[in-house]
Amino acid sequence: MNDSLAASQARAIAFEDWMRTAYSPPGAVEMERPEQELLAEHHMMGLALSAMETEAQQLLRGAPLRPDFWRVAVDFIGNFTHRVHRVKEEDVFFPALQSWGLLAPDRCQHFEEDHEALGGLTRELCDGVDEGDWEKAFRVVSIYLGRMRPHLTAEEQTLLMPELAEIPAGELAPIQQRFREIETHVLGEAGRSRIVEISQQLRRSIHFTDLHEPVESW
Ligand SMILES: [Fe+2]
Ligand SMILES: [Fe+2]
Repeated sequence: MNDSLAASQARAIAFEDWMRTAYSPPGAVEMERPEQELLAEHHMMGLALSAMETEAQQLLRGAPLRPDFWRVAVDFIGNFTHRVHRVKEEDVFFPALQSWGLLAPDRCQHFEEDHEALGGLTRELCDGVDEGDWEKAFRVVSIYLGRMRPHLTAEEQTLLMPELAEIPAGELAPIQQRFREIETHVLGEAGRSRIVEISQQLRRSIHFTDLHEPVESW
């Protein structure tokens, strides 16, 4: 099996578990392993990226800038990608992997530089939408996609694929607990269900409906 197909399957499997918890009361469903949770989040991000790419292509064909679509997109990548997923990685997962010798400092720095750049692009996209400047929005989205997709692939191929996950069993619970705290802090009591709803809103807006659609390559 090639790497991108294996990654697509791993994301889809992780996503099934992630979705089971989205509408369950706390504690009703066993928590996923941290790397599975991050993989599932990559699946969600892949769906959002494909929606954004489709909408950006429409801009290039002369369609008007739709502020409603882009405000939802910025909500997703600002509040979920940047404030939940990134924080889980930078504050919890990467330091843990580094402490066990599973993530080299230069590799970690490279991932964090990507995060910083992607956060800046999110703010620029927000400005472009507020200004109604479709050329700016198109340019920023193109750069965002071009940096985010290789970033996701690199994290998966070096850290997140199941065969790479060597987290000591006793260390799982504290990481899972911190992940829950980060989600609750940003998303409130609605938690993941809020992300599912934003994602569905984004995809309905471009007439895509299936959140289980495979994201085979970035
Ligand atoms: Fe990342
Ligand atoms: Fe990630």
